[in-house]
Amino acid sequence: MLIDTHCHISDEDYENKEEIIKNMENNIMIVSTASPKDIEEVVNLCETHKNIYGTLGIHPEFADTYKDEDLQKVEKYLTHPKIVGIGEIGLDYHYTKENKEKQKELFIKQINLANKYQKTIVIHSRDAIEDTYNIIEKYKNKNIKCNMHCFSGSLEMAERFVKLGVKLGIGGVLTFKNEKKLKEIVHALDIHNFVLETDSPYLTPEPLRGQKNEPRNVKYVAAKISQLKGISYAKTLEITTQTAIRQFDLKL
Ligand code: NI
Repeated sequence: MLIDTHCHISDEDYENKEEIIKNMENNIMIVSTASPKDIEEVVNLCETHKNIYGTLGIHPEFADTYKDEDLQKVEKYLTHPKIVGIGEIGLDYHYTKENKEKQKELFIKQINLANKYQKTIVIHSRDAIEDTYNIIEKYKNKNIKCNMHCFSGSLEMAERFVKLGVKLGIGGVLTFKNEKKLKEIVHALDIHNFVLETDSPYLTPEPLRGQKNEPRNVKYVAAKISQLKGISYAKTLEITTQTAIRQFDLKL
């Protein structure tokens, strides 16, 4: 069984959403909000499909524009049995650094919700790895599980996060020909620190790069990890699936 621990499959992303979901029959998807307007749709997907779970949160991109009611909606659904985490939340200084303080404030508010409702945190961090680390270390309760979605830091940072008990979400970037840093991380760290993801519809793995990504392509990520670790594909699935089940307390 494959688990795509992080994907976006809203109506806006796919015209043929049901077909995409059918392609993951007998496998599991954890669908994440990309925008506050996705919240209801993610909840609805969870309620209508046995193999779909969700995480809800306000992405840092919306730090200036989100409304209090968006955050209230996230909180309301955190007690839903199929909402297994809060995310993606975090910091993104790639497009703007001007609202750093607002981004941090929103991030911390949502970590506090995770602490309150005992939910796994799924982090988005872009060009902000040090601040992300410092905030998680300071504000996240020790018993709260945490994933770094689409990890893109150095090996040294990966080791620091792993020491905090954080799992690294590994996606299609691992399969890119010119990608060295992530391959080095996967090679160096214990496979028990990884969960698989696609971040669909983005970051399509080789050999399908250029096409729109979908959750079933998570198998290419698994195959690459298996190759880099020198262990069988079956064993790679077994270990990463168990890690994901524990990480999100999935009741299958
Ligand atoms: Ni994402």
